Amino acid sequence: MRVVPARLIHGKLRMPGDKSISHRAGLIAALSSGTTEISNFSTARDCASTLACLRQLGVSIQHTAGKLIVPGNQELVTPGEPLDCGNSGSTLRILTGVLAGHDLSAVLVGDESLSSRPMKRIIEPLELMGATIEATDGKAPLKVRGSDKLSPITYKLPVASAQVKSAILFAALKAEGRTTVIETTQSRDHTERLFNGFGVPVTTTSDLAVTIDGPARFTGGAITIPGDVSSAAYFVAAAMLLAGSELSIEGVGLNPTRAAFLSVLSSWGADISTTDVKTDRNEPYGTIDVRGGIARVPNEAERTLNQSVIPSLIDELPLLAVVGSQISGGIRIQDASELRHKESDRLAVTALNLRAMGAEVEEFEDGLQVFGPTKLRGALIDSHGDHRIAMAFSVAALIADGETQIDGSECVAISFPEFFDLLHSVSST
Ligand code: S3P
Repeated sequence: MRVVPARLIHGKLRMPGDKSISHRAGLIAALSSGTTEISNFSTARDCASTLACLRQLGVSIQHTAGKLIVPGNQELVTPGEPLDCGNSGSTLRILTGVLAGHDLSAVLVGDESLSSRPMKRIIEPLELMGATIEATDGKAPLKVRGSDKLSPITYKLPVASAQVKSAILFAALKAEGRTTVIETTQSRDHTERLFNGFGVPVTTTSDLAVTIDGPARFTGGAITIPGDVSSAAYFVAAAMLLAGSELSIEGVGLNPTRAAFLSVLSSWGADISTTDVKTDRNEPYGTIDVRGGIARVPNEAERTLNQSVIPSLIDELPLLAVVGSQISGGIRIQDASELRHKESDRLAVTALNLRAMGAEVEEFEDGLQVFGPTKLRGALIDSHGDHRIAMAFSVAALIADGETQIDGSECVAISFPEFFDLLHSVSST
């Protein structure tokens, strides 16, 4: 995809349904006693992978009038073929947690990127609960032998990961007794909110111990998935970076464990407000308004992103590195070595591509120092098949001198197939 510089961003947008919430809503629907109706289900290819796996497990899912309808009281069955999770870490990790709590066997496979990502982090707690999971060197394919009578555990997460926490919580639905997952830093809490919203109580203490009593079953019901705030992030950043822009994004998720980038961008001088906040099944959503321009010079603490905030903006870090190249004094990302285990090594690929556009970047084992402000120049960008890299560097391309070619840009469909169309619809050259 060729991306040319833009003068400003102007308009009103809605985002397709949130990817993280859609995965969980689909899984909850399949495990409910009553019928579930899901509106605004994500259009991401990753979420289609979750639905395809559920269908292979015998779950009936109907598409009617833009909604997904999933009847209650369904039984999961041993699939005839391996379950293809595609590029989706959430599908592979959280579904393994679901299958750990069922009396069946299944093999879960993924594409090349997913097959190189670490899975020991879910294998260890799920085996402690009584499932058997075979892997090759801690990686997919995973062969899961589940049981519908798991043992409860108290487990301290070695990495801040919502996928691992969620895998354990889904397995805990079939454990007799109390399961507690202890986090060191808060990760996204969609699973906890939706469990509570669909009739399975989950409590979280101030020291981040998440507790569920099993066995438990969801009730089913209706949900409208909020717009994806991680998809909105690219538009918010583009509007901030182009003075004169005015952008409004309605119906977008505002869960604080996801929306930390909004406060970070505000602290870096963006003019951002959120209004009209409502909730559906405990998930807050509302309107984000952005006016273009960078209105202040942040101090060093504001320009440093560290452990306390990293999990709440984990998917926005490549984008924040791009924005950082425009901030007076630059920005620093630290305690973010998890980024090396995403769809690509996002620290290395972000540094490489920012340098290709003329930015000065230092790369550390666990982060980046991005110097700024720097005028970027159009370049040839390699997305490395990573959707968030392709979108972050499309934003960089809007503020660069000259045009940019994003190689492998079709990977945006992993989370946001509409990305380039929507970007065209709100940018003026
Ligand atoms: C996700 C959790 C995060 C995030 C991913 C989606 C989720 O991964 O990067 O895009 O839906 O739970 P980790 O759990 O590996 O941090």
